[in-house]
Amino acid sequence: MIDIGLVIIGYLVGSVSSAILVCRVLQLGDPREDGSGNPGATNVLRLAGKGPAVATLAGDWLKGTLPVVLAWLVTSDPVIISATGLAAFFGHLYPAYFRFQGGKGVATGMGVLLAWSPVALAATALTWLAIAAAFRFSSLAAIVAFAMAPAYMLWHMEDPVLTAATAIIAVAAVWRHRENIVRLATGEESQIGKSSDS
Ligand code: G3P
Repeated sequence: MIDIGLVIIGYLVGSVSSAILVCRVLQLGDPREDGSGNPGATNVLRLAGKGPAVATLAGDWLKGTLPVVLAWLVTSDPVIISATGLAAFFGHLYPAYFRFQGGKGVATGMGVLLAWSPVALAATALTWLAIAAAFRFSSLAAIVAFAMAPAYMLWHMEDPVLTAATAIIAVAAVWRHRENIVRLATGEESQIGKSSDS
């Protein structure tokens, strides 16, 4: 019962969209209707600047981390730890409070990875930073970083359940970036910090 409760809490916490709430509070409109249309920190940066983007990043990151930390407090079962993190991640992608129209899961996925394995998260985040610094595309950085994340998790945790859960996040995150992949291929993707309607 506690196990199912943790998963439900994870999903409900993950469903809180920081981007939509930050933009509502600051009366900046709906991030789903402008820029890339993605309710995430990159689009909030594009539409509203650094402060709102940092608030969005922090909120989305925490909602991935906190449910898994709660799960660690009551169990060390990797199945429950994994399921709670996946629930938070998929809550962000398919939020109960916003007609199941959520984001791409980069910040929330990183928040989950932090609670699963700080070392695997550090390697994933460093990969994101390296690709972002080299190419200036947030989407490309996320795609490469999440594609590498299962290998980092396997290397550090050597746990098949956590590694499989990380692979699920990686596949879902890359899939949610499919429109970005098309824009990257056609040269229409906007670079970090640049305004664009693309
Ligand atoms: O975190 C999402 C990022 O990877 C892509 O966002 O707004 O450029 O589609 P966006």
